Amino acid sequence: MAQLINGREIAKQVRQETAVKVAALKERGVACGLAVVLVGENPASKVYVRMKQKACAEVGIYSEEHKLPETTTREELLTLVDQLNADSKIHGILVQLPLPDGIDELEVLSRVDPKKDVDGFHPINVGRLSIGEDTLVPCTPAGVIEMLHREDDSIQGQKVVVLGRSNIVGKPVAQLFLRENATVTVCHSRTKDLAAECRQADILVVAVGRPAMVKREWVKPGAVVIDVGINRVDDALVGDVDFDSVSEVAGRITPVPGGVGPMTIAMLMSNTATAADASS
Ligand code: GUN
Repeated sequence: MAQLINGREIAKQVRQETAVKVAALKERGVACGLAVVLVGENPASKVYVRMKQKACAEVGIYSEEHKLPETTTREELLTLVDQLNADSKIHGILVQLPLPDGIDELEVLSRVDPKKDVDGFHPINVGRLSIGEDTLVPCTPAGVIEMLHREDDSIQGQKVVVLGRSNIVGKPVAQLFLRENATVTVCHSRTKDLAAECRQADILVVAVGRPAMVKREWVKPGAVVIDVGINRVDDALVGDVDFDSVSEVAGRITPVPGGVGPMTIAMLMSNTATAADASS
């Protein structure tokens, strides 16, 4: 049976260390601040935003929530982003995705000051990551790497297969693994013989948004399996990996819930402290 990688515990450690950093910044007269912008009524987004506010309170970060109606115009949203860019209390700005239809996400994300871009979604930060420069890195991918570091899993030279090529997870996590000197393959819906590709992986990262898609035959015995999926199926949360069968062959595996999920918010706290530190 695979060993579980306990994301809740690791995330707690990250939050505790961030709280120490936030307190040290306060001593130096810098009170870390995060603004979260939520447009519309997406129920999952509302839950995430509430969890982000709670985490801020726990680590001592000042937080503001800006809730805008579904009918918000592009101009109104860009004006708010401009105000937050200019606000010295705010070191991190997070615009919760998805935005309502009709608002160009790239335009909005590109308006955020790259120094306050704690999501790492601004094209400048995406570019900096791709050329291996130090930068603010998307929270879920950063959380995946942080988990493996803290579990002492070696990454260098390992064969990593990433299933999924989204801008939020697949592409940035592939870049991060490359920065860690792994050999990285990115697979997607058009990949031929997905199972055979996945079976090559020493570390398999799955971020496709399809419940229980990865089966035991897709996994090399002893591999580390990181499940980024969070899918609601009949009232239960399930990952993209068929946990029961895959955990019989994997060496280590992240559960859902309690795996990668808590790491995302912990890394958001850490990124906010990093942005505040760099601004002072
Ligand atoms: N929606 C789903 N994941 C994320 C994330 O990491 N950041 C933001 N801003 N929106 C999201």
